[in-house]
Amino acid sequence: MFSELDSKLNPVKVGFIGFGTVGQGAAAVMVRNASEISRRAGRDIIVKSAAVRDISRQRAPELCEIALTADACEIVNDPDIDVIVEAMGGDEPARTLLLQAIANGKHVVTANKALIAVYGNEIFEAAREHSVSVAFEAAVAGGIPVIKTIREGLAGNKIQWLAGIINGTSNYILTEMRDKGRDFADVLAEAQALGYAEADPTFDVEGIDAAHKLTILASIAFGIPLQFDSVYTEGISHITQEDTAFAQELGYRIKHLGLARDTGNGIELRVHPTLIPERRLIANVDGVMNAVLVQADAVGPTLYYGAGAGAEPTGSSIVADVMDVVRVASAAVDNRVPSLAFQHDALNQSRTVVSNEFETSYYLRILAEDKPGVMADVTRILGDEAISIEAIIQKEPADGTSKVPVILLTRKIVEGAMERAISKIEELDSIEGSVTRIRVESLG
Ligand code: NAP
Ligand code: HSE
Repeated sequence: MFSELDSKLNPVKVGFIGFGTVGQGAAAVMVRNASEISRRAGRDIIVKSAAVRDISRQRAPELCEIALTADACEIVNDPDIDVIVEAMGGDEPARTLLLQAIANGKHVVTANKALIAVYGNEIFEAAREHSVSVAFEAAVAGGIPVIKTIREGLAGNKIQWLAGIINGTSNYILTEMRDKGRDFADVLAEAQALGYAEADPTFDVEGIDAAHKLTILASIAFGIPLQFDSVYTEGISHITQEDTAFAQELGYRIKHLGLARDTGNGIELRVHPTLIPERRLIANVDGVMNAVLVQADAVGPTLYYGAGAGAEPTGSSIVADVMDVVRVASAAVDNRVPSLAFQHDALNQSRTVVSNEFETSYYLRILAEDKPGVMADVTRILGDEAISIEAIIQKEPADGTSKVPVILLTRKIVEGAMERAISKIEELDSIEGSVTRIRVESLG
């Protein structure tokens, strides 16, 4: 830990555990902008060493003076290192190494949303015990300083809801499918090559990464403990070209959205593909860009936009966190901004809303026999559950087939009623396969 004397005399030494896309991106920013950083922080900040798995692998040439080791314990136990940047990912050994660093009195900066979302309550408790800071701006929305903004910039507000495109890989895939008609697997492979995707890309395409990020955003927005298990999670792997085209025809864009809302009857936490009216700014956030829309009582809606993944955008957030940690190091722990925005003993154990209580509108795609009476059956089932239809698209059958896609847009209804209606529609002999259901949000 720093002493006051240290803060006047010595540069801050940073050790990295993990030196891949994000680690090297952050170090490159620290090295290139060293003098700007020092002028802002009031101290020089230097990268001393980094731990990697494969020491023989070539790293960025401008970082060749940074000592590499294959033993991450060397870094977290090095008495000369003040701040640990964790950019290795996964839960173990990252969790154990972070707790060891904290026990050694080191401040920690991490990009690892999976670790914070699942083990954050334990990690913050350990950090309080040892009077060190744990900063995690890079864990959510890459280069957008959205954690700091919600935690500090909006601190005077009661936040009502937030909605975010918070997985760059999914947004990149959906954008390329819509604009260029590209194949899902092909775009995913490209996102991996560009360094956007997680080590296990199912985290991106099945919504798990976005759920980790939403867990963190919801905690700092509503003052609730981190509770990843309460997030309803659905990914983009079932979205087809057909759906993106039909959505466009209806005046919508399909985005993978994380939504956290204080309903008055609990906190709703959900991550899923969503149709958003194309006139909304957030519907036009494309490629690897992310955006978070926050609705708060005093300020109204505010929107934060920027690169959601990639080496230097994520590095930008890490460097800002290192500087913050350095600035507040001499303040007593109770005088620092709390990790989860609210004082640790003031977090609410609010109820979370279960998925069959969600209330939203729906896009339904049904493959139906092209014969009289089929639509009457479908609308009767929807009517029985008090589901009103707002729009219908029915195409001519293609040559040689008697089945047609029918697209329905419904008004708002509770999810339990929609689930029952979908089961009954799927039982009709005139309907083929399962009904595609995508939620619709106006975000007005
Ligand atoms: P990456 O390129 O795969 O880098 C991971 C690094 O950790 C590599 O240097 C790897 O060593 C090292 N490593 C892994 N296991 C290790 C171990 N047991 N001991 C020592 N070193 C180990 O991953 P990344 O994309 O930078 O992501 C890192 C973290 O940042 C993840 O938590 C991710 O979710 C998060 N994140 C990523 C992005 C992004 O755009 N990529 C954005 C925001 C947050 P080798 O190099 O030798 O393999
Ligand atoms: N895999 C993540 C994404 C990296 O695509 O958004 C940034 O957190």
